[in-house]
Amino acid sequence: MEKVSEAVGAVVRETITVTDNVTGKSLELPVFHATEGPRVADIRRLYRDMGILTYDPGFTSTASCESEITFIDGDEGVLLHRGYAIEDLAEKSDFLEVCYLLLYGSLPNAAEKADFEQTITMHTMVHEQMRTFFSGFRRDAHPMAIMVGVVGAMSAFYHDSTDIHDPHQRMVASHRLIAKMPTIAAMAYKYSIGQPFLYPRNDYSYTENFLHMTFEVPCADKPISPVLSRAMDRIFILHADHEQNASTSTVRLAGSSGANPFACIASGIASLWGPAHGGANEAVLNMLNEIGSKDRIPEYLQKAKDQNDPFRLMGFGHRVYKSYDPRAAVLKKSADEVLDELGVRHEPLLELAMELERIAQEDEYFQDRKLFPNVDFYSGIILRATGFPVSMFTVLFALARTVGWIAQWMEMIEDPVQKIGRPRQLYTGKRRRPYVPLDQR
Ligand code: CMC
Repeated sequence: MEKVSEAVGAVVRETITVTDNVTGKSLELPVFHATEGPRVADIRRLYRDMGILTYDPGFTSTASCESEITFIDGDEGVLLHRGYAIEDLAEKSDFLEVCYLLLYGSLPNAAEKADFEQTITMHTMVHEQMRTFFSGFRRDAHPMAIMVGVVGAMSAFYHDSTDIHDPHQRMVASHRLIAKMPTIAAMAYKYSIGQPFLYPRNDYSYTENFLHMTFEVPCADKPISPVLSRAMDRIFILHADHEQNASTSTVRLAGSSGANPFACIASGIASLWGPAHGGANEAVLNMLNEIGSKDRIPEYLQKAKDQNDPFRLMGFGHRVYKSYDPRAAVLKKSADEVLDELGVRHEPLLELAMELERIAQEDEYFQDRKLFPNVDFYSGIILRATGFPVSMFTVLFALARTVGWIAQWMEMIEDPVQKIGRPRQLYTGKRRRPYVPLDQR
């Protein structure tokens, strides 16, 4: 048997038979062959034909959608965007080119690249009234709290790009989000330190412009370091997309109900904030500071291994990668180089991180569970050296991941089998029972 399913583009080459040992009923389910990666059984008929639901907390065995954007081979430590290896993109490409690749499916030619850069550049300013929106926040608000609020509020400012059924409006919303995210992120930072907001400058590249709005002040010229700009751009590339992670799935789920793209991306930012996900980069730095010195590493490893202690080694482990996260490998390699070029001759936290990694890698607990450093382990050290406060780390992740979220959201809207995401449950609560009046309880 070999046919292309009517529902999805993947090829069906075989079936899997499910037998209910209680009723004796059997059901033959198609199995899709992915371009790469594990085969996928199509269980959509399971409930309709057999009345059985599947139980998969954390979605460890569930393919929630069909996607052509990003592929991860967790055992081999491979990450591809539209077929291109992350190592190649990090070394040879730039962030806006990767944005184009994720959004449109192929690398741009020179004219397409120039056109895309021009389009994004033309959308970098935010509505002037958004400036006053910021003053509603406390000065000590976490910048991620500001991001969730302000990005969600974009739906109230850009009404002409909220009709999700109009492909042109969808694309305008995508461009606006990619273009305005650095502006909003820089404003969140400036607000927290009490400095005036800076307008974007269209003569700068995407990343230079972000650094300009973040680190420059209106009263003095402070040239943007090309080293810093390149390091930042590479960090953006490494965070651009990562298939169906928690925040991306959140964006898709929010979008499946027909919510507008700004609201969907705000929901992605909220999901990213948690320390098990994007918030880990902030948590890694806090953890390294808490450990403080190499002699305390064993104590913290012991805590991480203790099942009764909620402490986990932040920046370690991954749901999909059971080998070295290729993004962490790129960052580890460039950490020294970047610090050196930034003039940081000696970074005790980097040395501590490397020693922590070395000792953890020799430990049976981490070996048995295949726990390796993930992208968040080394990114924080580079970000700190570039001058960002720890509270901004997850904001930078959100800035870069916006293109991944939006590309996945677009793909979902255009998917003919798309319907509202509505999981079921394994109910273990009380059966129906009579209401008890207050005086009889
Ligand atoms: N430190 C200590 N033990 C760990 C860790 C860790 N960082 N990560 C997993 N384990 C253990 C876990 O206790 C479990 O042990 P056992 O089998 O004895 O119960 C085993 O490894 C499997 O872990 P899990 O919780 O079932 O794995 P998961 O796929 O549900 O969780 C994770 C993945 C990333 C949430 C988790 O590894 C973790 O909490 N890591 C620390 C936070 C972190 O660095 N997050 C960033 C992830 S990468 C970037 C991103 O997504 O934004």
